[in-house]
Parts: sequence; C-alpha cells; structure tokens
Amino acid sequence: MSDVCKIELAGQTYELPVITGAENEKAIDISRLRQETGYITLDSGYGNTGSTESEITFIDGEKGILRYRGIAIEELAEKSDFVETSYLLIHGVLPNQQELSAFRDQLTYHSLIHEDMLRFFDGYPPKAHPMAILSSMVCSLSTYYSDSLDPNNIGQVQSIVPRILSKLRTIAAYSYKKSIGQPVIYPKNNLSYCANFLHMMFAVPSESYEVDPELEKTLNMLFILHGDHEQNCSTATVRIVGSSDANLFASISAGICALWGPKHGGANQAVIEMLETIHKGGGDVKEAMRRAKDRRDPFRLMGFGHRVYKNFDPRARVIKAACDRVLSNLGVQDPLLDLAKRIEEEALSDSYFLDKRLYPNVDFYSGILYRAMGIPTEMFTVMFALGRIPGWIAHWVEMKKNQERIGRPRQIYQGATNTSYIPIQERS
Ligand code: CMC
Repeated sequence: MSDVCKIELAGQTYELPVITGAENEKAIDISRLRQETGYITLDSGYGNTGSTESEITFIDGEKGILRYRGIAIEELAEKSDFVETSYLLIHGVLPNQQELSAFRDQLTYHSLIHEDMLRFFDGYPPKAHPMAILSSMVCSLSTYYSDSLDPNNIGQVQSIVPRILSKLRTIAAYSYKKSIGQPVIYPKNNLSYCANFLHMMFAVPSESYEVDPELEKTLNMLFILHGDHEQNCSTATVRIVGSSDANLFASISAGICALWGPKHGGANQAVIEMLETIHKGGGDVKEAMRRAKDRRDPFRLMGFGHRVYKNFDPRARVIKAACDRVLSNLGVQDPLLDLAKRIEEEALSDSYFLDKRLYPNVDFYSGILYRAMGIPTEMFTVMFALGRIPGWIAHWVEMKKNQERIGRPRQIYQGATNTSYIPIQERS
C-alpha cells in the first residue's frame, strides 16, 4: 500500500499523495494543496521543497554519495573524460564509440565564434570580471542563431547544444587573453576538448605550445566533478528561466549569473582569496576559526558547509586526493595547500563545525588545483561554469521534455494593507 499524508486544517482532514523516488526518497505531493485547502506552504530557501522529479543526478547528502545517471562520481572522475560525461548527462546513457566520436566532432567543429564577436571584448574595462563577460557573451551568442531559438523545437535545440558547449570554452579563453592584453589564440581541431581550452588559454603566437597531459587529465577530472549537482541555485535558475520559454542561451546566461555568487560557484575564488589573506597574515588558523564561529563577524570559512551534504562532499574527497599528486607532478609547491589542510584538520576537530556538520565542499581544494595549473584566481568560477554547462543543458532539456509549467512560487504577503494614496503636499 502506498503512503498517504493526512493533514488537518481548519477542522478538515485532507489526504496528500506520497511520492517515492528511485532511491527511496520520499516527498509529499502538495501540487493540489492550494486548490483544495486554500493554503500554501512556506519554505524560505527551498530546503524542504522538491521542484521537480528528475532522472539526472542523485545525491545522498548523509552518506556523501553523488551519481550522474546512476554512475558514481568517483568512477567517472577516474575512468571517463569530460566530453563522454557531458554526453551521459545530456543524453542519459553512456555513448557507444560511434556516438562518442560524432559528439566529439561536433564539439570540435563548432568551436569558433563569429569574428565580429571579438570586438565585443574590447568594450569591457580591463578589470571586468570574466563571469560578467561569459554571461553577456552567451546571451549575445543567441543573436547569431535567431533561426534556432525555439525552445520547443527539438531539432533547433539539438543544433545549439554542441555550439554552446564548444563556444563557451572559446569565449572563456578569449576573455582571459583579452584581460592580459595578449592576442586571442584560435582553437585547433586536432586537440581534445580540454587540451584545446588549455591551448587557447596559454599558447602565444610567437612560440609553440605543447599541452601538458597532466594538465589535460586534471582539467577533465575537475570539469567532470563540476558537471552536475541536481537542483542547486544555478541549475534551478536555468530551469526556471527556461520554464518561461526563454531560449537555451538566455537560460544559461542566467545560470552563469547565479553561479557567480560566493555562496555558490564563486566560493572557489573566495577560498583562495581567504587562504591568501590568512597566509599573508602569518597563517593564524585559530584566529580564522574564531572569526568563522563568531555570529557577529560576517567572516565564514569559505569552502565549508553545504545545503545537502551533511557529511564529506565526495567531490572534495576526489580533489583533495588529487592535490598532492598533481602538484608534485607539475613540480608546484604551494603553501596554501598546507594551510588548507591545517584549516580542515582544525575545523574537523572543532565542535562548532562538527555539530553543524560543516565539511569541506567541492570549492575548498579546487582552487589549489586551478592555481597549480596556472589558471588565474578570477577565472576559477568560469572554470566551474564550463564544467557545469552539460548539467544545465541536461536539466533544461529534461524540463522541456516533461513540459513543466512556468516556475512561479507564491508568497505570504506581510506588507501594508489597503492604504490610500496621499498627495505629496500632505506627506510629512
Ligand atoms: N563557516 C562558518 N559557519 C557556517 C558556514 C561556514 N562556511 N557555513 C554554514 N555555517 C553555519 C551558519 O552560520 C549556520 O549557523 P546557525 O545555525 O548558528 O545560524 C549553520 O552553519 C547553517 O548554515 P546555513 O547558512 O543556514 O546553511 P545553508 O544550507 O543555508 O548554506 C552554504 C549553505 C554553502 C551557502 C553555506 O554553508 C556557506 O555559506 N558556505 C560557505 C560558502 C561556500 O563554500 N559555498 C560553496 C558551496 S558548494 C559549491 C556550490 O554549491 O556551488
């Protein structure tokens, strides 16, 4: 017999169906609640609200489990590459050899942006944040595909998916080159997705550039770990923007803006800035802990805590394990890695962090790897965004396929009740 939830409101009993997920998660289906009772639910920050049923990503925050389409993140990080994982997220299954080759080719042959777009970069001030550039550029990209913007036309959507994946990588690298006053480096078709990005970032026309296989491997791993994370702030944004029938470019542009915030993807930049400040101040970990625990101090331990994980973030585990190996292979010694480890050790033996179940999240160690790879700090969140594109696309496509209604939460109004307009002469 399936579960039913009974609620009593104003003397009447109502029955609400209970939905069970594939991993036995339970939800009370309140979709008819307002219609039948006149009541709504109130859930600031949506900590108790499921906005959809999804087949893409499963997280068990208590056990520290993350799976894409049923496959454990640890296994994908070890055995897959970013293009294959993108295919898995977007299409729902691992590709066979032919499908994978065709997908790789699509990403390879759609890497250039319209040459006129290069001039767009000149309009930004030199210190423009690359997340602002990325978000505006993906929206601008839509203007070159005005015949492919119908969100309900599967053929049109399929044609822009590889273009978005490929061209955003080019835009990200160009924005970096522009910010440091170097000529942009065009993509090369003989390189893999990640190698091509590294080439566009670090090659200069006057020298030959060989992509270091260690960098390529590490980038694949980091992009895979960023690939999807179910209904997080940016993905929920992409879905809700798309639910109004806004096109995929516009929806992803909004997702990039949501990711930018330091409580979300912007945390990877904030972590390194925090570590640098602590390091420059003499590396006083205990003082940082004291401040993080002080409610009157806005300082938080960046890279710690998560809405869903109340145990180790499995992505943080994979990245931490890679840090020592990658830094040693690249011949990099970074005092910030030791500092980060000391902070983690201190936090995980402190009752404040243990009681609130605050563990390192994906952003705590990812910046150390990006730094070691030569990626500048202000590009870290762009790296997160590039990795998250397949997840955003997969969710947007799923939302369209399920013909979800426009996302439109309700509210409980607490403002002034019916009030008359006061002419300006009579106002105090
Ligand atoms: N340092 C110190 N205290 C913290 C921290 C932290 N990093 N994170 C949470 N807390 C405290 C918080 O003050 C609150 O205490 P109290 O119950 O006394 O009011 C309690 O822990 C619960 O925190 P919350 O803010 O209610 O939790 P949330 O689920 O709303 O927020 C979070 C989750 C990730 C925004 C938050 O933990 C945070 O701001 N962390 C630092 C930023 C960060 O690392 N973000 C990356 C998240 S993972 C990648 C991603 O999502 O993109």
